[in-house]
Amino acid sequence: HNVLVLNGPNLNLLGTRQPEVYGSTTLHMIEDRCVQHGASIGLDVTHLQSNHEGVLLDAIHAARGVQSGLILNAGAFTHTSIALMDAIASVELPVVEVHLSNIHARETFRHRSYIAPVALGQICGFGAHSYILALDALAAHLKAGST
Ligand code: DQA
Repeated sequence: HNVLVLNGPNLNLLGTRQPEVYGSTTLHMIEDRCVQHGASIGLDVTHLQSNHEGVLLDAIHAARGVQSGLILNAGAFTHTSIALMDAIASVELPVVEVHLSNIHARETFRHRSYIAPVALGQICGFGAHSYILALDALAAHLKAGST
């Protein structure tokens, strides 16, 4: 199975960005771990980060028929983007929503996710490990569907 790990705005700054909230692991390290862990559970992982909503939309559209599923940390677009929600609903791919921080324990404006209603599920609060948990969840879902 092919899986795209898609990261949105400001996540390129991980490692130096509010480490007390997001940890000190860089995005490169997270992406490397996703590729490694994916390989160990039978997922061929590619990754993309963009600060631009349109680029994220294009990547979701291009994933249709190419990827088996998506891991998505949409950053702050999580809380604002009806366009991302519509894109996910349109491509009919299983999406696991990921956040490093526990968005439900933070400001009220972070509690609302436009991704959640169209996602398979949401994993948040486990720092960089959230991505690994998300890959495991997606792998289990894909395995269940392929039998
Ligand atoms: C985030 C949480 C969002 O609220 C925030 O805007 C981010 C990162 C997370 O991974 O914890 O950019 O998605």
